[in-house]
Amino acid sequence: MRLDVVTIFPEYLEPLNVSLVGKARARGQLDVRVHDLREWTHDKHNTVDDTPYGGGPGMVMKPEPWGEALDSVVGSGSGADAPTIVVPTPSGRPFTQELAVELSAKPWLVFTPARYEGIDRRVIEEYGERFDVREVSIGDYVLAGGEAPVLVMVEAIARLLPGVLGNAESHRDDSFAPGAMADLLEGPVYTKPPEWRGRGIPDVLVSGHHGKIARWRRDEAFRRTVLNRPDLIERADPASFDKKDREM
Ligand code: ADE
Repeated sequence: MRLDVVTIFPEYLEPLNVSLVGKARARGQLDVRVHDLREWTHDKHNTVDDTPYGGGPGMVMKPEPWGEALDSVVGSGSGADAPTIVVPTPSGRPFTQELAVELSAKPWLVFTPARYEGIDRRVIEEYGERFDVREVSIGDYVLAGGEAPVLVMVEAIARLLPGVLGNAESHRDDSFAPGAMADLLEGPVYTKPPEWRGRGIPDVLVSGHHGKIARWRRDEAFRRTVLNRPDLIERADPASFDKKDREM
């Protein structure tokens, strides 16, 4: 998969050299290219922002540098090899595991993290006519810019690429993963030692009884979901819950 990021803070994207994403790059599974938006400015102050039409606080990112940057990065191409452009913004559609799965199937993503009050609307319109442009929010809070959201989205997407996670099974039970536990959060986990600071582990986990372990995991997942995310239970298909769930 190819990933381009156009930003005024290229150094903010340095974590993309570390850990899971860094290893995927080193293995050639991810081709990440970070670009400095100011390379496409022509004045001596490398200006990327200006005051908003209509007044109000803050600054708006100017369309010209973005237009030149995107033309240079994506070319004038369209069709099958055209990238999907992801615009992080608190006004976008929610970034969910489902969207991460959808984006992980794309060959090429271009991220356009903005600072200030966002990018001049005409840029979104202009590229929206030729490309699949997605305005995406990582949550109901406002950050100082879209760079941290890019790190979040890239990590969620990269771990879904074939061969990126060491154990191909490891995202099977993730919270929000499709499957039998689709509507439930992941429950608690334990490892050795069997006793730590006087605290043991649930006996069922060393019982060797796979059926009982699966039931316990489901009950714990259900309990945690009721406690932390009752909205997920309300939204779920009632048919996805069995009789034992309903007794909890
Ligand atoms: N930029 C600022 N806040 C954001 C958010 N919550 N999601 C995506 N981009 C943002």
